[in-house]
Amino acid sequence: MRSVLFTFTALSLVSGSLATGISDEDLSLQQNVIHFPDATWHTPQSNVQAVCYQIAYAISDASEVFFPSTHGYAASNKHALASSSGESACSVQPGSPQDVGLILQILGKSRTPFGVKGAGHTGNPGFSSTSGVQISLARFDTFKVNTEAQTVELGPSLTWDDVFERLTPYGVNVIGGRIPGVGVGGLTLSGGYSFQTSQYGLSIDNVVAFELVQPNGTITTVTEANHDLWFALRGGGNNFGIVTKFTFKSFPQGQVWGGAILYAPDQLDAVKAATAEFGKVTDPKAALITTFVYTPGGVSTAALIFYNEPNPPKGMFDAILDIPSPMKDVSIRSFADFIKAVGVADPPGERGSFCGFPVTNYSSNFLDAIAEQISIWGKKLTDIDPTVFVAADAELLDSTVFSHGAPSAYPPDRSLVYFPSILSFTWPNSSLDETIFQAQREIANNLRAAALKDGQDVERAAVYPNYALFDTPLEDMYGQNVPRLRELKRAYDPENVMGLTGGFKF
Ligand SMILES: Cc1cc2nc3c(=O)[nH]c(=O)nc-3n(C[C@H](O)[C@H](O)[C@H](O)COP(=O)(O)OP(=O)(O)OC[C@H]3O[C@@H](n4cnc5c(N)ncnc54)[C@H](O)[C@@H]3O)c2cc1C
Ligand SMILES: *[C@@H]1O[C@H](CO)[C@@H](O)[C@H](O)[C@H]1NC(C)=O
Ligand SMILES: *[C@@H]1O[C@H](CO)[C@@H](O)[C@H](O)[C@H]1NC(C)=O
Ligand SMILES: *[C@@H]1O[C@H](CO)[C@@H](O)[C@H](O)[C@H]1NC(C)=O
Repeated sequence: MRSVLFTFTALSLVSGSLATGISDEDLSLQQNVIHFPDATWHTPQSNVQAVCYQIAYAISDASEVFFPSTHGYAASNKHALASSSGESACSVQPGSPQDVGLILQILGKSRTPFGVKGAGHTGNPGFSSTSGVQISLARFDTFKVNTEAQTVELGPSLTWDDVFERLTPYGVNVIGGRIPGVGVGGLTLSGGYSFQTSQYGLSIDNVVAFELVQPNGTITTVTEANHDLWFALRGGGNNFGIVTKFTFKSFPQGQVWGGAILYAPDQLDAVKAATAEFGKVTDPKAALITTFVYTPGGVSTAALIFYNEPNPPKGMFDAILDIPSPMKDVSIRSFADFIKAVGVADPPGERGSFCGFPVTNYSSNFLDAIAEQISIWGKKLTDIDPTVFVAADAELLDSTVFSHGAPSAYPPDRSLVYFPSILSFTWPNSSLDETIFQAQREIANNLRAAALKDGQDVERAAVYPNYALFDTPLEDMYGQNVPRLRELKRAYDPENVMGLTGGFKF
């Protein structure tokens, strides 16, 4: 079975659409800090090749530019999903923040589209890929445990499963992703939901410092003292520059209990009932993700269960554990082993798309609606191509989930409670891209209607940006924060350098 949380997306890379956010207006060139003999040209696309050479000339020995048909080029452009990957003119792997600064200056001055890739797990086409210059952060792989300060420094290209594995001997942990392969960079900059989020908050609630290369090339360390950037970086994605290092708070970590359980379609009602019942649990050390997967024989389900101690309280998980299952892998293990047990390697060559639908209550009515949508649309889509994978996740968190941090770009209102939920589909054939995106939009609309009918106040429930389909309006993710974020964007990136790269743009 595929990674249960995996259903992400893949947008077709409509040619020319990659330069998201680039306007035609001739933005005045910023005062450049570096001077090149050939810095007078100004035309984008046709000169990307020249920009590649200019970058190669400017950077230090710590960094390297790669051209097509080299290993470095392929690695820089590789993504978990084929649909999020691109063919850049060249790629660069900067090895120092100074070089990132030089690269951003050259790209900004020449108005060259670029991509910024952490670990390449976005589901959205063009969000970390480009036809211009691909910046791979592969060389930013700091891993440093500061025992005394109780912090861990992490580079953006590390994957969370690797981080957890390397932290195990230290007996500490940080708040990061739930499935192997997902990157530190992208997950953190848009929020970050972990199996320990009910207990400790989002990943952004556990960052104490960002090493940031600003769009004009200035390197700065952003902490709580930097009021505006501190707010903007915690959820604002790649709008404010490139982060070359995160410093996380760490906390003690012992063995945990949990794992994955799969259920056949005939247990659907029992799984829905046990999930609704689990919604009443208020212990922040507990977590449950229930996944609904379409199969020709009906909707099968999976439960990912977690307790942040070797022994969960008596009875807490009984309703889930008692349901007959063909595959159950639940045990006491290290946190790293638990993460390995709940996900599998990325499906090679698959296209994929994610679409979020925030809710306030996984009531039995609402769980019925999720199962019904997966059943109806799974049938429709597999009638077109039987290899399409259609799934949805309910992510049960404690109602105190947003109480662990100060105001941040996301979530827009920490006084509200809502849980991220995700549609995650994969398929192999690019001819289906538009059909799938449209299906996900319709399902998310139907589920929103179902939540409203269930009496849930989802009007202001924000979609988690890392789960949002590429065309989601900013207001749906950032709500009341949009005007402030737009203002900050203008102040910190007046030349709109970060507008040359993909992602949600303020
Ligand atoms: C299988 C799977 C499981 C997932 N599980 C979870 C989960 O448990 N919890 C959760 O919260 N999310 C989860 N996600 C969503 C995940 O958080 C996003 O896909 C995230 O963007 C991945 O980060 P990345 O660095 O791997 O991606 P990338 O594709 O490399 O980057 C994503 C975005 O972030 C930007 N970016 C990355 N690094 C930097 C940087 N250092 N500076 C500036 N911009 C940067 C990129 O430009 C791009 O726009 C999951 C996704 C998948 C595919
Ligand atoms: C969720 O919905 C159920 C069923 O309608 C209801 O009993 C429960 O009180 C709701 N919980 C919350 C937190 O609103
Ligand atoms: C993809 O779908 C198109 C359109 O239905 C079809 O012509 C093509 O053969 C498919 N490709 C593969 C590899 O199945
Ligand atoms: C770069 O931008 C930052 C923030 O806007 C500003 O403080 C700094 O002076 C700028 N640096 C240069 C060299 O323009």
